Amino acid sequence: MANISLAERDLKHIWHPCSQMKDYEELPPIVVDRAKGVYLYDTDGKRYIDVVSSWWCNLLGHCNDRINAAVKSQIDRLEHVIFANFSHEPAITLCEKLSALTPVALNKFFFTDNGSSAIEAAMKMSFQYHIQSSIPGHSRKRRFMALSDAYHGETLGALSVGGVDLYSELYRPLLIDVVRIEAPDCYRCKYGASRETCSAECFASAEETFDRFGDETCALLVEPLLQCAAGMRIYPSLYLEKLKKICVAYGVHLIADEIATGYGRTGKMFACGHADVTPDIMCLSKGLTGGYMPMALAVTTDEIYDAFYADYSENRAFMHSHTYCGNPLACSAAVEVLNIMSDEDIIGGVAIKAPIFTAMAQSEMSGIKWVGEIRHIGLINAIELVEDSATKKPFDPKRRCGYQIYRRALSKGVLLRPLGDVMYFNPPLVMEEKDMRHALRVCAECIREVLME
Ligand SMILES: Cc1ncc(COP(=O)(O)O)c(C=O)c1O
Repeated sequence: MANISLAERDLKHIWHPCSQMKDYEELPPIVVDRAKGVYLYDTDGKRYIDVVSSWWCNLLGHCNDRINAAVKSQIDRLEHVIFANFSHEPAITLCEKLSALTPVALNKFFFTDNGSSAIEAAMKMSFQYHIQSSIPGHSRKRRFMALSDAYHGETLGALSVGGVDLYSELYRPLLIDVVRIEAPDCYRCKYGASRETCSAECFASAEETFDRFGDETCALLVEPLLQCAAGMRIYPSLYLEKLKKICVAYGVHLIADEIATGYGRTGKMFACGHADVTPDIMCLSKGLTGGYMPMALAVTTDEIYDAFYADYSENRAFMHSHTYCGNPLACSAAVEVLNIMSDEDIIGGVAIKAPIFTAMAQSEMSGIKWVGEIRHIGLINAIELVEDSATKKPFDPKRRCGYQIYRRALSKGVLLRPLGDVMYFNPPLVMEEKDMRHALRVCAECIREVLME
């Protein structure tokens, strides 16, 4: 194998996620050898700034000394154990610590092993709750509602509630029929209002949908404040507050998918915190382990938990499991993440850096005529590129502008991974100003170079 590169060996066998593998003929996989902080290093020693936190999960930098030490110490004690009827200290500590941070009513933790599986668990939990409920009419509640352009994962249940055609359209015949609410689209607001000052006029679609389907719906799934995969679409907290109120009125569970928005990404520990909304179930993953290991949680209330609590013979148990749920290594990483967040006041740091990063994004992008909108929340800054900023006309997707910019930026050592033509920065929360400035500058340079051509 001496003369065959690792990239060639990779392509002989590996089918990469969310990729047209033919693209790899021109852009072979970058084989990463090691990482530290916000930097990845490939096998040739070339450095890349990871401004997308490796799919939004790396929170406190790669190979963080404290998380590494926690995992190393755990691995010599207990690597994994069945989680039915068995438990371990890292899982217990994690739930104790998290229950001090989640909204007060959320104090029961169900472990799964990736984000999609947490969504599936939450959906099944809500469905079963309603079937087992003694409230008149509730056993009829069997449908799910979700927003257009939502993203909740790729397994069939999670894909069903998702609304991004790119991922779900082809599989439609396999998916469950979901009631759809038209999501807010603040950049192209139909009411000509602005995100900062609107009264959530677009909530009318939710009202109509609840009016028609609220009685037959068990749960509404929502990405609070930020629809990431839709192109980092940000909507006002008022909209979320209204969703919570209408869910209560119709006896519909609110399932907050905080998989991408939790852990300080929006500037608060959980995005629901911006609206002071307590969901009935909150799904967490990604930042949960600092981006170290696959693990997820569906966190819920005593009220839901109690609906499953009975003598075994009553068949009310939640018969759901994943082999690796509650993995001790992942829990040890997750405990250390919370320790670091508290010791180093990571969210306080986000509050300081957020306006600085946004000002930098605005200044680096100024004068680029294709910048339609720069939207921001927490350390996230997203730049939507359009052919015509006056009319907001998008580029022809066949041009793959975002992809060309991505390739160009990689050659200059910056890992952007745009969503269509939305270039975004969703860095580890420990990203420093100098790295952010550099990445933004490279991004602006690449936008100019690619779109000028
Ligand atoms: C909001 C949201 N929900 C669910 C998921 C699915 O998580 P996973 O990829 O771990 O299955 C993602 C992944 O990006 C996400 O962004």
